[in-house]
Amino acid sequence: MSGELAGQTAVVTGSSSGIGEGTALRFAEEGANVVTNSRSQERAETTAELIREAGGSAIAIEADTSNRADVQTLVDGAVEEFGSLDIMVNNAGTSVIKPAVEMTEEEWRRVIDVNLTGVFFGCQAAAQQMIQQNDGGQIINIGSAYGFSGAQGRGPYCASKGGVHNLTRCLAVEFAEHDIHVNALAPGFIKTQIDEQTRGDEESEDFDTWPYYGYTDQHIHNRTPLDRFGTIEEMNNCMVFLAKGDHYMTGETMRADGGFTAFGWGSKGT
Ligand SMILES: NC(=O)c1ccc[n+]([C@@H]2O[C@H](COP(=O)([O-])OP(=O)(O)OC[C@H]3O[C@@H](n4cnc5c(N)ncnc54)[C@H](OP(=O)(O)O)[C@@H]3O)[C@@H](O)[C@H]2O)c1
Repeated sequence: MSGELAGQTAVVTGSSSGIGEGTALRFAEEGANVVTNSRSQERAETTAELIREAGGSAIAIEADTSNRADVQTLVDGAVEEFGSLDIMVNNAGTSVIKPAVEMTEEEWRRVIDVNLTGVFFGCQAAAQQMIQQNDGGQIINIGSAYGFSGAQGRGPYCASKGGVHNLTRCLAVEFAEHDIHVNALAPGFIKTQIDEQTRGDEESEDFDTWPYYGYTDQHIHNRTPLDRFGTIEEMNNCMVFLAKGDHYMTGETMRADGGFTAFGWGSKGT
């Protein structure tokens, strides 16, 4: 297929739904060979099948990105099937929303393992392959508006995403001599499964007391200068821009959050 990414091979972790699925479908539309991924072969295969039905090129690989050996199978699979790895998108992510004083060790570790350690594994495995290829490459990590700010009940999530942003800077410096760019995208609020899971229970008594742990659409509107959620299509556009690599950008975290992190006031009211 022709397009902005024609002939490139991309791995997109966590591409069975949401932002990762959107990225995988769009990269394929732009001509890339895509390796889709999920913790379930069946769910990863669903996205790969959508790509192939639309005339694109994709294979699916089940892998838990918090496991280093699993992440290696994604890179190896891309090279075996398509001959190279040019773009690595470390998108898989998870969250636990709970008061910090009630957070279990297992919950803390699970979020950090997937959101931060998994991103490191993805960067490392991709860079090893790209260095061997000696032709540069693009690594894109998914951070978050919450990597720039704190939010109640989201200790491990905010910490992991802040970590992703600074890891991105660190590895950009380290991999630059190989012309491997490392950038991040920090989305604001996009309606996906993660968003559904992290919403509060609007029926609960303490939902609108401070500190509340959930949010409604109205909370997001009040806190977002562009006055709406972002869309998967808008995230896809940012991802293609970053993946193309013709931007002299590395170590950058691109915010696509409707002004959420630019806004210093509490709320713009209703
Ligand atoms: N939606 C937002 O408002 C928003 C805002 C800022 C940042 N983000 C970030 O964007 C990324 C994508 O989230 P999303 O909103 O698109 O949520 P989503 O629809 O829940 O997608 C999460 C994806 O990650 C996969 N995943 C989770 N744990 C995994 C693991 N250990 N190994 C492999 N895959 C795993 C899931 O696949 P399976 O469940 O099939 O394994 C799924 O494909 C995340 O990093 C998230 O933190 C989202």
